[in-house]
Amino acid sequence: MRNANPSLPQRSLLAGGNALKIGLFGANCSSGRAVTKVPERWSGTWPDNLRLAKMADEAGIDFLLPIGRWKGYGGDTGYQEATLETVTWATGLLAATKRITVFGTVHAPLFHPIIAAKQMVTADHVGKGRFGLNIVVGWNEGEFEMFGVEQRAHATRYEYAQEWIDAIKLMWSEREDFDYDGRFIKLKNVRAKPKPYGGTRPVIMNAGASPVGRAFAVRNCDAFFMQSSRVSVEETAQRVAAAKADAVAQGCAIDVFTVGVITCRQTMKEAEEYHHHVVVDQADWAAVDQMLGLRKITPQTVPMEEFMRQRGQMAHGNSGVPIVGDPDHIARQLIGLSRAGLTGIAVSLVNYADELPYFRDEVLPQLEKAGLRLPA
Ligand SMILES: Cc1cc2nc3c(=O)[nH]c(=O)nc-3n(C[C@H](O)[C@H](O)[C@H](O)COP(=O)(O)O)c2cc1C
Repeated sequence: MRNANPSLPQRSLLAGGNALKIGLFGANCSSGRAVTKVPERWSGTWPDNLRLAKMADEAGIDFLLPIGRWKGYGGDTGYQEATLETVTWATGLLAATKRITVFGTVHAPLFHPIIAAKQMVTADHVGKGRFGLNIVVGWNEGEFEMFGVEQRAHATRYEYAQEWIDAIKLMWSEREDFDYDGRFIKLKNVRAKPKPYGGTRPVIMNAGASPVGRAFAVRNCDAFFMQSSRVSVEETAQRVAAAKADAVAQGCAIDVFTVGVITCRQTMKEAEEYHHHVVVDQADWAAVDQMLGLRKITPQTVPMEEFMRQRGQMAHGNSGVPIVGDPDHIARQLIGLSRAGLTGIAVSLVNYADELPYFRDEVLPQLEKAGLRLPA
């Protein structure tokens, strides 16, 4: 079923000329992805998102990836408590931009597939084929409790998601008036019009970290987001190769992306000092502990040394690799990730809109010189 539509590569995220795609991750949430108390942290408001999206579009940034977050983490800052719902957020931004791909992050168990398929098609028409789907199965029990929806066992979440995405792909195909009779999802005489824009379908991504999550991504998606190694580029290259080998074993191909947290300043010293200020001195440790607690990582459940390591990692970018330094250093790191086989990276900044211009002016030209990106 994957890539059944031959025109899918026309989707700009897949066909665009940038060998290393760059996206912004998490701007729909208050504080973005920086668990910090610094006053300049990201607001996540609509005016700031709109301003950012237009700037990113003009700078040639390839995609915007939101976080599907319903409850947030409290702490001193109310970390990620104010979040814009991602499909409506994407629709608004697609109306205001011209080139950039905008993802919606959709929790399969929380969105009825017929409603989700139509919402996404609407966004796709608004953006003339620039909507992308990040399919997530959910992990945060507090959020599910809030919905009154019982969280399934881990492997079963992906079995449900398989039916959900199969049903949605059918709705996006030319099939009409079909029944879907799954174990979980049962639909009768489905009619879903219009179809996605331009006779193709939205780019689909997933970021499952477990073997079952990765297998789901490889089977169903165009892009797989994985964690890079914090140890070495070689280790990252091995992880990329393993994901691609999984895809080949299933008779398909997949683009592999990763996640990063960038602190770019004029000098290495300045960047390191600011990074330390944000994620150590001014970290919102109460929120960090909430996030760890949800994953059952507490001083009671793991050895203290491991708890402190995870605490530091959570504040330093959670699943994203921290990239801290002057523009030359940042460019070198990104070039290294590209050489490791990655197709792209979704990055976050403490204040996306304040920091993007410097990144655009000082880092992107170096990636152009390295042949990884075209001028905007
Ligand atoms: C780039 C990226 C984006 C993600 N976005 C979300 C999200 O918005 N909402 C969410 O609940 N989980 C999100 N996740 C979590 C994953 O979908 C997945 O549940 C997690 O990596 C655990 O993997 P597993 O489901 O295979 O155990 C994201 C992960 C990554 C790396």
